Amino acid sequence: MAYVLGIETSCDDTAVAVVDDRMRVCANIVSSQFEEHAPYFGVVPEIASRTHVKNIPHVFRAAVERAGIGLDALSAVAVTHGPGLMGSLLVGLNFAKGLAVGRGIPFFGVNHIQGHVAALFLEHGAIELPGLALIVSGGHTHLFWVEGGRSLSLLVKTRDDSAGEAFDKLSKMLGLGFPGGALVDRLSKGADPRRYDFSQPKISDGSLDYSFSGFKTAALRHIERCPEDFVVPDGAPVRDLCASFQRAIVAHLMDRVVIALRKCPARSLMLGGGVACNRELRSGMTELGLKHRLPTYLTSPILSTDNAAMIAMIGVDRWRRNTPDSLALDAHITAPAYRDYRPLHGIPNLNEGA
Ligand code: KG4
Ligand code: ZN
Repeated sequence: MAYVLGIETSCDDTAVAVVDDRMRVCANIVSSQFEEHAPYFGVVPEIASRTHVKNIPHVFRAAVERAGIGLDALSAVAVTHGPGLMGSLLVGLNFAKGLAVGRGIPFFGVNHIQGHVAALFLEHGAIELPGLALIVSGGHTHLFWVEGGRSLSLLVKTRDDSAGEAFDKLSKMLGLGFPGGALVDRLSKGADPRRYDFSQPKISDGSLDYSFSGFKTAALRHIERCPEDFVVPDGAPVRDLCASFQRAIVAHLMDRVVIALRKCPARSLMLGGGVACNRELRSGMTELGLKHRLPTYLTSPILSTDNAAMIAMIGVDRWRRNTPDSLALDAHITAPAYRDYRPLHGIPNLNEGA
């Protein structure tokens, strides 16, 4: 049996996992930094990288122990090398390089977003392809055309904030806490999603890019109009604002999926990334799949938010194909592996006739 160790430190989670060559997850440990960043209502890059330095040795030891293997059983190491926060990426990248040199095993650099797509295959095995995958997270909002685990075409991306960032910013404005998505989701339950108006973004060049920054500005206006309404953190105005905001974001996310479904012969729908934990988005995607008679695949919470099992899974695939990276591999703030993605080959241009 071969085992690949995965490392993920692109943002504020220190994660180490072990996946075997049958794609079974033997360990999947995530140490989050909520407490460190909570006072700032957002991730502070300097604190994130320093906390990774502190945490990675024991997260690594815990993962190897949980897998019940010795270090000599490791066949390879895979690590996120972008996109993400530079200081954070460098911690995982250098730890992985040290391990590769120390153990004399191959080393693979993995694209974080490709990892979120891989998480869907790790959880569900065979998925009917081609399909549409919506990957929504704190740092990215991408709609992909997926022809295979390695063959992704980017159809739509955000031109400003990501959807997760928008949730986090609303939470900050209302003083709810960090990370905000889960809190906004919880407060929305049973609240009135029609009380506050959030119009859908209209992008003047007619492109189908996502755009979430306008929702944040609209929320701020609602708060400024009547600040005294929003003092009680779980009062009806706060809950209704959360519900109205969530409804608008989910509608915007789904709108592009509906357009893509009209234009692409998809055989499945997929949803991943941290925001895939959102109740309304999960039910929206499931209903859309039912309406179009397509199987819909969602990642469970542990594989939706950042984790290293998804990185190790890609590592297993690379190990099987024997495509190691050089130890000189660099970290990238933006998505480096898009160069590996297929261009919009054979896929209708979503912006045509929009
Ligand atoms: O994938 P992830 O763990 O990290 C990044 O790669 O960014 O995603 C984290 C994001 C945060 O913005 C968080 O607020 C959001 O996912 N999130 C949610 C929910 N749970 C986490 N957003 C909306 N509803 C949720 N239930
Ligand atoms: Zn992520």
